[in-house]
Amino acid sequence: MLRDERLPAAELRRIDEQVRGNWPTGGDADFETAIAFHEALPAHKRFAEVLESADEPLLQPRAGVPVLADQIDLLAYLHREGRADLLPTTIDSYTRDNQYEKAATALATTRETGEDTLNGFPAVNHGVEGCRDLIEAIDAPIEVRHGTPDARLLAAITFAGGFQSFEGGPISYNIPYTNKHDLAETIERWQFVDRLAGAYTERGVTINREPFGPLTGTLVPPSIAIAIMLIEGKLAATQGVRSLTLGYGQVGNVVQDVAALNALNKLGREYLPSEVCVTTVFHEWMGGFPPDEARASGVIGLGGLTAAIARPDKVITKSPQEFQGVPTKEANAAGLRTTRQVIDMAIEQEIAIDGIADEQALIERETRCLLAAVEAHSDGDLVQGTLGAFDSGALDVPFAPSDSAKGAVLPARDDDGRVRILEWGELAMDDEIKEIHAARLSERAHTEGREQSFRMVADDVDAISDGKLIGRPQHGD
Ligand code: 5AD
Repeated sequence: MLRDERLPAAELRRIDEQVRGNWPTGGDADFETAIAFHEALPAHKRFAEVLESADEPLLQPRAGVPVLADQIDLLAYLHREGRADLLPTTIDSYTRDNQYEKAATALATTRETGEDTLNGFPAVNHGVEGCRDLIEAIDAPIEVRHGTPDARLLAAITFAGGFQSFEGGPISYNIPYTNKHDLAETIERWQFVDRLAGAYTERGVTINREPFGPLTGTLVPPSIAIAIMLIEGKLAATQGVRSLTLGYGQVGNVVQDVAALNALNKLGREYLPSEVCVTTVFHEWMGGFPPDEARASGVIGLGGLTAAIARPDKVITKSPQEFQGVPTKEANAAGLRTTRQVIDMAIEQEIAIDGIADEQALIERETRCLLAAVEAHSDGDLVQGTLGAFDSGALDVPFAPSDSAKGAVLPARDDDGRVRILEWGELAMDDEIKEIHAARLSERAHTEGREQSFRMVADDVDAISDGKLIGRPQHGD
């Protein structure tokens, strides 16, 4: 039975050899030479050190193109023109699906024709050497950002290749991303990833790990995201991870977003073992963006303001071209600069907003309900508790494609634009909390003169891209 226990060293070695043996570039991911490579990196390129010692929110974009020389140019540009503090390498979809042969073919086509046939950087195909060339060429820390349910080979190669931060986790890269992997399987896969990060950490090379907080990116109630961040953090800590960045995605209501970031920070410190350094990351809005670039910059600016008030350790920025998918490098840098401008103008202001403490207390209370349900399903083991809680629907994620979550929870905004829960499914929440949500949603229904229904949910999903926060009925509806 899969348990929340540290993989023994022999098991780490066995899986490592098996995973690396399955693909030609895996062979080069030798641990000892990798330690030497990491040790030679200067302090300002060590991810955890830079992130953990910052006194203002650091900015990081998303960016990945298939060819190594182009990826170097792109990251250098975002560093120089966007003033990114931390850089990413976003991995392509074939690699995320473990289809390395398809990635190889597409990469060859791109090299021949110049046409981008991949939506990111195929790090497995570039191999350890390609990764090291990238790490050496760029004068800032770089994180692997992806969305890979089974990221074992990607981790082995990119850690050996000099990356010191790795996004994702067993729940956050399963439930929102795939219906092909069950949760027990991804938990097992990520135990290896975290154990490998832990093995580097034990040797003095800290690998930062970042569970993906926004989940499905669509009106996720903060307590659900926070509970999952805490569980993934704890599972990673068991395997030896000592630098954890817990994530949260902007919902667009400033009070709720600041309250959620405060709660995430507080509960992270409380729930995770004291030897773990906990930091937080705020994702600018992950839902649908307005097609108009000027309006999109407004969404980004509101994210900057929220970050200036809540002061997360890191902000993942969006670009004004979010609507159309992968942005140009200029638009990507513009998103960074817009965010920076707002943060720099707002961060020294004393901005006191009513209601943050109450909202934070509610979020904390909800999160504790969810964690208590996991505990109740656990029989003393967090892995079993997590599996049991998802299986029963006591823990659930709205709009999840995975069969491992019920997907029965339906969120809607209240009259103030805060994300509440309209349909609970089997979600483990006490009745008093359910009544608070119901009362808030009923205020909205009253304002709008309509019944609470799925129509509200659908309207809310589209609201920000339509230029609003709350999906109110429009005249003529
Ligand atoms: N470069 C930049 N952004 C990317 N995204 C996905 N792939 C890339 C890439 N290669 C962004 C999308 C969206 C988020 C989920 O990731 O634009 O903002």
